[in-house]
Amino acid sequence: MNSPSPEQIIESQRQDWNRVADGWEKWDRFFDEQMAFLNHRLVGDARLRAGLRVLDLGSGTGYPALLTAQTVGTSGGVIGIDLAEQMLEAARRKAAVLKLSNVTFRTGDVTTLPFEAASFDAVISRFCLMFLPEIPKAVAEIARVLKQDTWVAAAVWSAPEKNPYLKIPIDIIKQFIEIPPAEPSAPGIFRLAKSGELAGMFQQAGFADISDDEFLGDVGFPSADNYFSSLMDIAAPIQNLWTKLNPVQQKDAKQRILDATEQYRKGSIITLPIAVRIITARKPT
Ligand SMILES: C[S@@+](CC[C@H](N)C(=O)[O-])C[C@H]1O[C@@H](n2cnc3c(N)ncnc32)[C@H](O)[C@@H]1O
Repeated sequence: MNSPSPEQIIESQRQDWNRVADGWEKWDRFFDEQMAFLNHRLVGDARLRAGLRVLDLGSGTGYPALLTAQTVGTSGGVIGIDLAEQMLEAARRKAAVLKLSNVTFRTGDVTTLPFEAASFDAVISRFCLMFLPEIPKAVAEIARVLKQDTWVAAAVWSAPEKNPYLKIPIDIIKQFIEIPPAEPSAPGIFRLAKSGELAGMFQQAGFADISDDEFLGDVGFPSADNYFSSLMDIAAPIQNLWTKLNPVQQKDAKQRILDATEQYRKGSIITLPIAVRIITARKPT
């Protein structure tokens, strides 16, 4: 079978994330509480402060654009860009609730940014770049739109072994159906998990002072069932695998996922480790 073209991948991404936008809004408060530490890390690594004009790539429902808007204040501004209009609609609703007038969300593809050269003081991104069919093209775009001597900070998932949060259901689904190994360059959750992979692309694009850190954390769930429902509602790539199982397989697989998740119980909370790779780089003068 032929590999899908970049255009086909982008269209599938758009459909996938639009499909789960309701789930993101449903679980927004919970995931905001659990994963806000990543937004703070990105805001710090990108050296954000009042007055800066910042671009958030693959903003989805507004992370980390909303914290960024609070950080740069009304003397600065934020643009969040994403393929999926329905994710952005949720982001806009949240910005309105927070009374943030300095953030706008617009649809677009990260690999062809609709902005002039040297028009941003920082670029940030959380959990988007690994889904692109042409990541070096996006890195070149980041270099183009950044002003000299400014920073990019991006978070991507690290290795599956260190991410039971995502690995548990994927492994269990694989017990029921054969999933052919993806080509190393195929977009997906773990496409940029390897140390040096994204950092190397920034180096190729001429960035300086590059750091590539694995940032470990946990996500806490009140029950295994809560974990299962929330993940299945928001994780479009895992949903895509799940729908390949028939209803009998799904029932069995769900029980196996719940049992595996229980192994991570600490008292009344299921605590699932996550490992995120944070890449930071400076566009030189
Ligand atoms: C896992 S979500 C992350 C959303 C948000 N940054 C967060 O961390 O909550 C991935 C997002 O990347 C977006 N995305 C994927 N490929 C993209 C592309 N080529 N251009 C713009 N956005 C893209 C998806 O539409 C989706 O909203």
